[in-house]
Amino acid sequence: MPTHQSLAGSTDEELLRRMVDTHADRYGDTFWAFFTARVAPSLPTRPVIVDLGCGPGLLLRDLGLRYPSASLHGYDITPAMIAYGRQLAGAKLTLELHDVTAKPLRHPAGSVDLVSMSSVLHVFDEPLPVLAEIRRVLAPRGIFLLHDWVRQPLETYMAYRRDVIGETGPDAMRRGFRLFPVHNKYTPDDWRWLLAEAGLALRDHTQLRASHQIFVAG
Ligand SMILES: C[S@@+](CC[C@H](N)C(=O)[O-])C[C@H]1O[C@@H](n2cnc3c(N)ncnc32)[C@H](O)[C@@H]1O
Repeated sequence: MPTHQSLAGSTDEELLRRMVDTHADRYGDTFWAFFTARVAPSLPTRPVIVDLGCGPGLLLRDLGLRYPSASLHGYDITPAMIAYGRQLAGAKLTLELHDVTAKPLRHPAGSVDLVSMSSVLHVFDEPLPVLAEIRRVLAPRGIFLLHDWVRQPLETYMAYRRDVIGETGPDAMRRGFRLFPVHNKYTPDDWRWLLAEAGLALRDHTQLRASHQIFVAG
């Protein structure tokens, strides 16, 4: 099966660098305003939080600053991501190498208050078994926060890569065409259908960036 990185035409190190470099933009004031209004009110003061495909662990680090008593767990298939997260200063994170499509999570049923998945689910050939596992571990009032790509016209997508990501030249054009079907797989309706199909009730959703939608389900 092609990996996320091979689909992206990037090495692990390049993807890691991109995730780190874009983190502050992706998880800036707009994201935290949404989180504070739509997610935080449902969380206990000592939440158990899981980030699937956590990348370099920076979202978990930021959540730890807001919830100092939280239990924070990140899972990723890429060793370089886990290694980066493990050396983050001051963050008390449990980070493990783990393929979420291959094995169940080690969390008991009904034990997790927040599961986050950001720019990961679109990669999987079969998203429903992963969603079933998320539903299994969620606490009765638990939240699944899904943030992922939504379909855009080719022209808009290529302009986004050029103007927002800053990619230009023949290699960038090749990568844009290769990634177009990967990033533009699901419409917002498709995501809603997938969540409903997995038995996850949609509580909220919005578009914080032109390329992505965020869904609050549980
Ligand atoms: C685009 S990055 C997003 C990283 C992070 N969520 C963020 O927003 O910064 C996608 C991540 O998903 C991870 N990933 C891809 N397939 C995975 C799998 N089957 N199990 C766990 N992680 C996976 C990749 O290694 C990569 O770190």
